Amino acid sequence: MSVSTVIVTGAAAGVGRALVGLLLDRGMTVIASDIDEPGLASLRDAHAGRPLAVSTCDVGVRAECDAFMERTLAAFPQVDGLVNNAGLYLGRPVWDYDDTTIERVIAVNVKGPVWLSRAFAGHLLPHERRGAIVNLASVAGEVGSSDALYGTVKAGVIGLTKSNAMNFAPYIRVNVVSPGLIVNTAIADRIPEYRYKEYKRQEMLDYDILPEDVARICAYALSDDAKSMTGAVLRADNGCYPR
Ligand SMILES: NC(=O)c1ccc[n+]([C@@H]2O[C@H](COP(=O)([O-])OP(=O)(O)OC[C@H]3O[C@@H](n4cnc5c(N)ncnc54)[C@H](O)[C@@H]3O)[C@@H](O)[C@H]2O)c1
Repeated sequence: MSVSTVIVTGAAAGVGRALVGLLLDRGMTVIASDIDEPGLASLRDAHAGRPLAVSTCDVGVRAECDAFMERTLAAFPQVDGLVNNAGLYLGRPVWDYDDTTIERVIAVNVKGPVWLSRAFAGHLLPHERRGAIVNLASVAGEVGSSDALYGTVKAGVIGLTKSNAMNFAPYIRVNVVSPGLIVNTAIADRIPEYRYKEYKRQEMLDYDILPEDVARICAYALSDDAKSMTGAVLRADNGCYPR
């Protein structure tokens, strides 16, 4: 059974925005969330008349995640897909982080996916309902990053994926998409120039990786084409840093 109703976080821009359009094109109902209210309004306008609901939620704040999941699951009890896409990358060396910022980066990138995944699974598993979760990590979580916090949290997302694949089996598949440099995104604009060039030099393929390219891999992981896949790391990185 393919998923029919999917929550996408960080949906106002980049990969999330591209994924919303793709899932709608494939006939799914989408609940799109973000902290960027004008961005969500423009997403809603761009897809007027389609089965799309938008809802603000800061995934780094526990109370907001709880309230978002409560209202979403009440309005869309048939929800069977979750894409933990929202991410925060600051592009700093570790000595430029104060404790508050460390907590924020961990909250947005790791705690949010933990809270949302737990609420999602808590809704499906008691009824033995099937579903799929896709998390967004990064090549930075696999090979390291010049921003140590980002490397740390994205490695955590990979660990969360494999562990939740075990926790939520046999009903919910959990996979992670690990992109390299995605052009036309705010995050790529924040990467220090020397690291940007290093990534590019490492890439075996010479395509620009677009948000739409990453979105298609997320959609695959949600779909029945991947129904025997769980706990897997799917790469969208032009083959940089082969591993
Ligand atoms: N852009 C890249 O080069 C790249 C590379 C590897 C991995 N990734 C990962 O891919 C995912 C998507 O990245 P992108 O490039 O599309 O990012 P983006 O910056 O283009 O968009 C991210 C979206 O998330 C939203 N967001 C940020 N903080 C949030 C919060 N606390 N709560 C809710 N929404 C929040 C933003 O408002 C924005 O709409 C992220 O998890 C990112 O870490 C990106």
